[in-house]
Amino acid sequence: MTNPDHPITPTWPGLVRILFLALFLIPAAAGPALCQWCSCDLEGWSGPLIFDRDYNPKPAYTALSRELGGVGDTNRGLRSLAPARLGIGTAMRYQAAIEGGRYMATLLPQFNQVTPESALKFGEVHPHGLAWDPAGQTGYDFSRADQLIGLAAANSLQVRGHTLVWHGFLPDWVMGASRDQITPIFTNHILRVVGRFRDRKGGDGQKTVVAWDVVNEAVNNDGELRLHDEFWGKFGGAEGEPAKLEFIREMFETAHRADPEARLFLNDFDCFTNQAKLDKVLALAAWLRDNGAPIHGVGFQTHLTATDLGIGAKVGEVARTLEAMGLEMQITEMDVRFQDCQGSEETQAQVYGEVLRACLMAGNCTSFTMWGFTDNITWFEGCD
Ligand code: XIL
Repeated sequence: MTNPDHPITPTWPGLVRILFLALFLIPAAAGPALCQWCSCDLEGWSGPLIFDRDYNPKPAYTALSRELGGVGDTNRGLRSLAPARLGIGTAMRYQAAIEGGRYMATLLPQFNQVTPESALKFGEVHPHGLAWDPAGQTGYDFSRADQLIGLAAANSLQVRGHTLVWHGFLPDWVMGASRDQITPIFTNHILRVVGRFRDRKGGDGQKTVVAWDVVNEAVNNDGELRLHDEFWGKFGGAEGEPAKLEFIREMFETAHRADPEARLFLNDFDCFTNQAKLDKVLALAAWLRDNGAPIHGVGFQTHLTATDLGIGAKVGEVARTLEAMGLEMQITEMDVRFQDCQGSEETQAQVYGEVLRACLMAGNCTSFTMWGFTDNITWFEGCD
């Protein structure tokens, strides 16, 4: 995990870190170490998802099944219990999906929607070393994306496309590009990537790629548009907000031009636990809608912890706010980690259940997607 801006990456000043080490880690040397930013990966603790490392269902799975009216066992998959408007999704990791095995055998009966975990990201579609050309015709490598979307289509799984504009995992030639080059680079990228999969249909004759996260993580934790990283920093610092807004609006228009049928989303994290951030994300969505951008909803990553009990009330409130704005809500990357080794599999299950319940109660909640399903394959690293 190399994304320097993601909150899960430790950013503490050295002194605080040393104090933490002295207070907690050293006395705990005889026993298990505390996990600050990772999902607790020690003996006796499980990971952030709903199946364990051996693909057995956890209490979190049972909770989701029950919320959907099932009895909690895996015989009736989550997908068959969900109402028609609600996609039940998971991130799908390239290597595991291609290998198939227990990964696909567990995924297929449970989910009707998948989000390629990385295969559609800019850095994957433009592997390092392949430079951009102004006409945007070369420098693409769709080998992984094609295989993954092909696999989804063959199994009649709907796909959430993730993601078109994101500051993470960009090749050096994009980081080094000038502000003026950014719009054509991303315009070409969006037209090529979205256009490539626009007409793909599944075995059931239905459209495969139904949604795109057009812009991912555009808002900072302090409630301002993202400013300081190398990518968004190109737009002129604190004075750059109008330029950023206009760029984001244009990217939605381009995605709509590339696929007029796809549902288009803003996507961001920590919105249910950070009011300033939530306010700005909603304000951005409202601005886009009021300024003619083809935006259909807001995606909430929903990377939570097993102590986030009560979060369902906030999820419900946000769904109602979006409904009044005429927008959809999607849960796009849910997982529930044991930060600081707090909580239990039971509280983890409750947090999952609360979020799904709020989504089920909101007519405009159209996807409940988890960022993986087995603790065997999760983006959280272990505690080391
Ligand atoms: C993560 C993937 O899960 C990792 O495998 C990869 O190394 C880094 O990216 N927010 C997002 C996702 O929008 O794209 C990120 O996915 C997790 C945080």
